[in-house]
Amino acid sequence: MATTSPPTPDYVMGLMRGVIDPELGSDIVELGMAKGATVTDDGWIRLQIDLTTSGCPLRAQIQKDIRARLTSLPGVTRVTIDWGELTQDERSEAMAKARFNVSQNAPDTSIPSTTKVVMVASGKGGVGKSSITTNLAAALAEQGYAVGVMDADIWGFSVPRMLGVDGELVSKDGKIQPLVREIGTGRLEVVSMGFLVDQENSALMWRGLMLNRAVQHFCQDVAWPSDLDYLLIDMPPGTGDVQMGLAKMLPRAEMLIVTTPALNAQKVAARVADMGAKNYLRIVGVIENMSEFVAPDGSRHSLFGEGGGQQLADDIGAPLLGQVPIEPAVSVNGDQGDPAALGETP
Ligand SMILES: Nc1ncnc2c1ncn2[C@@H]1O[C@H](COP(=O)(O)OP(=O)(O)OP(=O)(O)O)[C@@H](O)[C@H]1O
Ligand SMILES: [Mg+2]
Repeated sequence: MATTSPPTPDYVMGLMRGVIDPELGSDIVELGMAKGATVTDDGWIRLQIDLTTSGCPLRAQIQKDIRARLTSLPGVTRVTIDWGELTQDERSEAMAKARFNVSQNAPDTSIPSTTKVVMVASGKGGVGKSSITTNLAAALAEQGYAVGVMDADIWGFSVPRMLGVDGELVSKDGKIQPLVREIGTGRLEVVSMGFLVDQENSALMWRGLMLNRAVQHFCQDVAWPSDLDYLLIDMPPGTGDVQMGLAKMLPRAEMLIVTTPALNAQKVAARVADMGAKNYLRIVGVIENMSEFVAPDGSRHSLFGEGGGQQLADDIGAPLLGQVPIEPAVSVNGDQGDPAALGETP
């Protein structure tokens, strides 16, 4: 029997506000994971904690943290934690809260708050991120939207060539002015390292310092117009510093993941999805590129395997938004700065 009276359940829950879910970065009360506490007269605290998944690998850490806060309290004789699992709705709500908290701490950008930001990402190189980004951008512009295109592939930029936009970025009133191409009733507003170096092939080493911060400049120091409907970001392959930096800077961004039909490509693509999840980015869906080749005689050939897009979509719980066939026009028109999406070809 304890000599001092035990803490109240409210006091216990108050202490739980100091327990941060290491993955979501917010406290377990706010995230709705600490469901409630009971305390008996003789100092037995029972807590109900629901985790995002029952097999949460961080459970041990959370448990340690909770115990450290409770066991040494005066009047406490015993601490029991009943573990449960959040419902799907509760989990979505927890994610939304975490995302909101992160966005509160994210740096200011010059991207209007009304702009829908979509990162086009993939684990592997050469799967068609840039082709998808530029074609999507061109198609949206043709429908009358103002579409920003940020070429975040600092070292291997290809957006200028694919969109047929050429020129130099100039600065006005301390802001970088994107290059504009009008398409139909809409327009493209483009920034790329390609506009900062003399030639597409020239080595970029000489601007090493600036390059490290290029995407930050693209987010913060570009005069993105206030009527920008979309901002599509062509990501470099993989999950390196640039990707992580962007994800942190733009917690509101959504991710579109490009993959090929080869089943073994899914592991790397899933890593990208994982990166998105860690930064609470919403994944809009998966696009399977180079799905099949339809020969002039109408016969179909799955040159790069089958089922990869669907498999990845299933794995990460996002929809498969589309399958783009192998279409020579994508490549030819891309080389000519004339996105295939603008022609009659699919
Ligand atoms: N559906 C398609 N049909 C035919 N060719 C395609 C298709 N998609 C992409 N390509 C071609 O494949 C090549 C690679 O595409 P792209 O540059 O878009 O890939 P990426 O993922 O951006 O590559 P990187 O990782 O190097 O940036 C390009 O030459 C492009 O024209
Ligand atoms: Mg690319």
